[in-house]
Formats: sequence, C-alpha cells, structure tokens
Amino acid sequence: MDNLSSLQYVPLPESMQPMLKDYLEVRCRYQAAIRLIRARLETLDEEFSIRNKRNPIHSMQHRLKTVPSMMEKLQRRGLPANIASAVRNLTDIAGVRVICSYIQDIYTVADALTSQNDIRVIRIRDYIKSPKPNGYRSLHLVLEVPVFLRRERVSVPVEVQIRTIAMDFWATLEHTLRYKVPGGVPGRISDELLLTANDIAALDQRMQRIHDQLEGIEDSQAHPIVYPPR
Ligand code: GTP
Ligand code: MG
Repeated sequence: MDNLSSLQYVPLPESMQPMLKDYLEVRCRYQAAIRLIRARLETLDEEFSIRNKRNPIHSMQHRLKTVPSMMEKLQRRGLPANIASAVRNLTDIAGVRVICSYIQDIYTVADALTSQNDIRVIRIRDYIKSPKPNGYRSLHLVLEVPVFLRRERVSVPVEVQIRTIAMDFWATLEHTLRYKVPGGVPGRISDELLLTANDIAALDQRMQRIHDQLEGIEDSQAHPIVYPPR
C-alpha cells in the first residue's frame, strides 16, 4: 500500500482531485487504526514475555485493502462501488494478522485485546472451534477502535485474524493453490486439502500438550520468588 502515497504527486485531472483527497483522508484513519492495534498487541506480548519468559505472538502482518479489491468486493455484494460505500459497508479495509505459537495463546491474546475498554467488539467468528468446511481455521475479530483526528474522534473497524503458525502455514498455501486454478480446485484435491488441515489441527493440539507438560515440569522446579526481596 505504501506506494500509494506517491498518488499525491501523480498529476490527476482536476475533477478527480476531491476524490483523491477523500481517499487519502480515509486511508489515514485506517492506518492509524492498524498502528493502534499493533501497539496494543506489542504491549501485551511484551508483558506476557516478562511474566512467562516466552512470547505468545510469533509475528504480525498488516495490510490495507487496495482500492480495486474494495471495489471488487462491493460489486460482488451488489453495493455501490465508491470510497464512501466501502467505508459504510466493509469492515476489513484495515487488517491485522497475528500468528501465535500455540492454540491457547490465540485466546489469551484475543481476550486481553477485547477486554480493553476503548475497543468495541463488532464480531467474533471462531473458525477454530467451528472450522470452515474446507478446513480453514483462525479466530476472526472485527474490532472498532478510537482514532483521534484534529477536530474529532472517529471509530474505525479493523479485522484481526489470529491463528497459530501451523494454521497460517495451511491458510497461506491453500490461498496460493486456490488462485492457481481459476475454475476452482477439483473435488479430490479439496478433499486432500481438508485432510491436511485436519492433520495440522492434530499437530497443533499435540504441540499444545507438549508445551503444557513442559510448563508443568518447569513450574515444579522453579524456586519461589520471595517478595519483597530480602
Ligand atoms: P471475505 O469476503 O473474504 O472478507 O469474507 P467474510 O467477510 O465473510 O469473512 P470471512 O471471515 O469468511 O473471511 C475473511 C478473511 O479470512 C478472508 O479475506 C481471508 O483472509 C481469510 N479466509 C477466510 N476463509 C479462508 C479460506 O478458506 N482459506 C484461506 N486461505 N483464507 C481464508
Ligand atoms: Mg476479507
């Protein structure tokens, strides 16, 4: 998306200038919302790592939906294809993807984020407890966050997808494979992909159990911390 900032310098017909200004103002709000969510997540990750000596967040990615992708989605839904309609109708213009180490970390991170009292939860879809028929797993949150502009406070939606490294591995490859075949993936390959998703889910559960067992051993060996220090 960054290359779009150069749009400001592209000579545009006079008639299109107001539209560009509207778009840049809208984009500024969604970028601010992404920064806010990322900062909150970084803080949670750091606090957790001090207490638990490991990071629940493995990595994060973010993206702003491109204008063509916004227009395509609006058209697909039979809605007016313009920026104002995108702001009214789309909740995934700003997207943050959080990759966690273990399944439990997903819920720890989601609970901590959604309990912050200036963040409003618009929608939660738990595709881990109820995977999509193709095997896709992730926790999807649509959150509304406050953005302070010069003269007003606005609420901006952000879609947060939280998944494990293993779920991300599957989703990334499945996405690429699906786009390779414009007519759709043949049935037997979809079946195979579903089997791989289930194998991956089983691995995630095993890794969680291994982690829980090791944490139990570590806790039993830990020296008690005396507070206040003597
Ligand atoms: P979209 O029109 O795709 O935004 O669908 P939606 O608004 O009904 O939301 P949904 O929760 O179904 O999916 C939103 C996003 O999740 C998608 O844009 C993808 O990033 C991701 N996603 C959902 N389903 C799949 C899937 O089957 N495979 C992969 N790889 N990603 C998926
Ligand atoms: Mg989407």
